[in-house]
Amino acid sequence: MLAGKRVLLIISGGIAAYKSLELIRRLKERGVRVRCILTPGGAEFVTPLSVAALSGEKVYRDLFSLTDEAEMGHIQLSRDADLLVVAPASADILARMAGGLANDLATTALLATNRPVLVAPAMNVRMWTHPATQRNLKQLKADGILVVGPDEGDMACGEYGPGRMAEPAAIIAAIERHFAAGAGADRPLRKLRALVTSGPTHEAIDPVRYIANRSSGKQGHALAAALASLGAETVLISGPTALADPEGVKTVHIESAEEMLAAAEAELPVDIAVCAAAVSDWRPAKPAGQKIKKAGGAAPSLALAENPDILARLSRPGKRRPKLVVGFAAETENLLAHARAKLASKQCDWIVANDVGPKTGTFGGDHNKVSLVSAAGVEDWPALTKAEVAARLAQRIAAQLTETPKAATKQKPKGKAR
Ligand code: CTP
Repeated sequence: MLAGKRVLLIISGGIAAYKSLELIRRLKERGVRVRCILTPGGAEFVTPLSVAALSGEKVYRDLFSLTDEAEMGHIQLSRDADLLVVAPASADILARMAGGLANDLATTALLATNRPVLVAPAMNVRMWTHPATQRNLKQLKADGILVVGPDEGDMACGEYGPGRMAEPAAIIAAIERHFAAGAGADRPLRKLRALVTSGPTHEAIDPVRYIANRSSGKQGHALAAALASLGAETVLISGPTALADPEGVKTVHIESAEEMLAAAEAELPVDIAVCAAAVSDWRPAKPAGQKIKKAGGAAPSLALAENPDILARLSRPGKRRPKLVVGFAAETENLLAHARAKLASKQCDWIVANDVGPKTGTFGGDHNKVSLVSAAGVEDWPALTKAEVAARLAQRIAAQLTETPKAATKQKPKGKAR
């Protein structure tokens, strides 16, 4: 049930930090994306390298790091997660959280977040039972902070009593309880299957050359992750990209349009299909079995054959048609006219139209400005990151599929409709 979730783990100073490495592993095994903030105190107990290696992500350490801010601002870091977990949570960080301080990256993220927070306190027994810590804990609980542990037992400092950090298994159980409690609202697409195509296709000319395009796959991969995070059992059919497979998503790697179609059809039936791939419209009609040599003659001409249209095939009326089929229209001119024409010719339900002209930076970039085109009209969305477009589209899909059919047909597009 944790697959596709995103956890921001804050590791503060304490000997129990070694257990956080185990926690990262256990979360990753469950398909959770784990980003970590390591406080200076935490870094005295575990190395940034171990945290990075286990999480497979960059480790964030410094509030004033220009590199970190350029990659992901601290506000976004605090919100680009479904849950913040502080483990171990030292007496000091609990005190600063209770007081609303924001004097380093960890406490700034905790104060700036709009996400739930779970703390796993770990400290010496006297520090734990001290009235100041108990006062802070009361305040944190009143603020809605979730708490797991601490356990009672022998402590690393030689004393006995409460203060030992909860075991990783218990922290995971607390995380699962949290998500299970919010499952209805948080995972509206659970029980539904989603298929996403992403990236370019490569069409072989000969064993070493191919026809391709500039698609990075960023938008399609972000969509697969967003659908999975809303609970959909998600399959991503990906052309060749430089991106990692999204957590919690079954990823099938293919090269050509024909392979993409076969892989997509093998996954049917699905409830949702989103075709974000930039499929090559043509392929060399007869790829050469051996590398084509120059051989001193004229340049060879390339006879092309048309590729199958995966979006149109998936949209074909019939028993296996997904309930909702969404296509993209990558255009360099007359965006909306082309998008409307594609909606009709491919028989899909929605088209996400985006301008991919060279000046927009959409291909390969991290931002996208799209319009959602459907029978109900056109909605222009503001310029957003590709992750935000993905999250918004996934929410719209969830709203469409979880509303009663009657209400859905009456639904008016939000935003500027034309
Ligand atoms: N598409 C597809 N299979 C193809 C071609 C396109 O599934 N062989 C899908 C894309 O994934 C996208 C939509 O169709 O969702 C539109 O793709 P686009 O490249 O914008 O349009 P084309 O159909 O290729 O038409 P054109 O190149 O003439 O604009």
